[in-house]
Amino acid sequence: MAHAKVNLSLEVLGSRPDGFHNLVSVMQEVSLHDTLQGMHSDRVAVQVEGAALGMDNLVVRAAGRFRERLGIREGCHITVHKRIPVAAGLGGGSSDAAATLRLLDHLWNTRAESRVLANMAADLGSDVPFFLTGGTAAVSGRGESVEPLPATQPTWYVLTNPGFEVSTAEVFAALTPDRWSDGARTREIASMVRKEARVRIGVNALQPVLFELYPAAHLCFERAEALAPGKTIITGSGPTVLSLLGSRSDAERAAGSLRQFGYWTAAVHSINRKGDTCL
Ligand code: C5P
Repeated sequence: MAHAKVNLSLEVLGSRPDGFHNLVSVMQEVSLHDTLQGMHSDRVAVQVEGAALGMDNLVVRAAGRFRERLGIREGCHITVHKRIPVAAGLGGGSSDAAATLRLLDHLWNTRAESRVLANMAADLGSDVPFFLTGGTAAVSGRGESVEPLPATQPTWYVLTNPGFEVSTAEVFAALTPDRWSDGARTREIASMVRKEARVRIGVNALQPVLFELYPAAHLCFERAEALAPGKTIITGSGPTVLSLLGSRSDAERAAGSLRQFGYWTAAVHSINRKGDTCL
């Protein structure tokens, strides 16, 4: 299973010489997931169901990187069932990439060291390393530095997606230095998780940039925020909106209301490390 992630808080500290940005984020794995199945084959083939992905998708890239790095000659047939919306701020492609690395390590019995898997993950994308750890984590650097946090109390969220894709690169490119911050508000949330096993919604430096680029994302956010005031935020570079709800029934009710606007919605819960649900 390849779960989605949400960013409970995301601050950008500044730009880097390599064109990326240093950030601080608290990331949480949630129950929405894609599934991947792998079989031995004489060539490498990836079949995607549930979404139209290009030939150069992250599963194909992860399989290529894995074979190259570990000198594997065998092939594999991987089937991906997509449920996580694509280019939505939910890390779907990154989670599929991490799941591919784990799946191939198992399929080919390579027993790759975790350091080797982590290096491949970081090369594949900034969010991929988080998914090798999962659960709740404080993430920094470009995304490659992942500090696991203790499991939180069971938490319900609603995800609301207005139905269009957003390029992370486009949002970062439009981010101006006045949006940079010192990471203190995000670190406070990480420390709340450590001390009280509770979460709250923080800030997202990319949110105002997304709203300037995509007014429809702002409208979607306002509609979700009306149902969970002060507990609603954009996840990643958007456009999916994350709302923290008090219970499963509250989350399902809010998801039902927001669906009436024509949005894709899902009531999801937090996932602890190693795939244990916390419910
Ligand atoms: O690493 P990933 O391919 O997901 O990043 C997509 C784009 O988002 C990068 O090309 C970069 O423009 C931007 N980005 C960034 N700083 C990060 C992560 C992503 O500037 N820490």
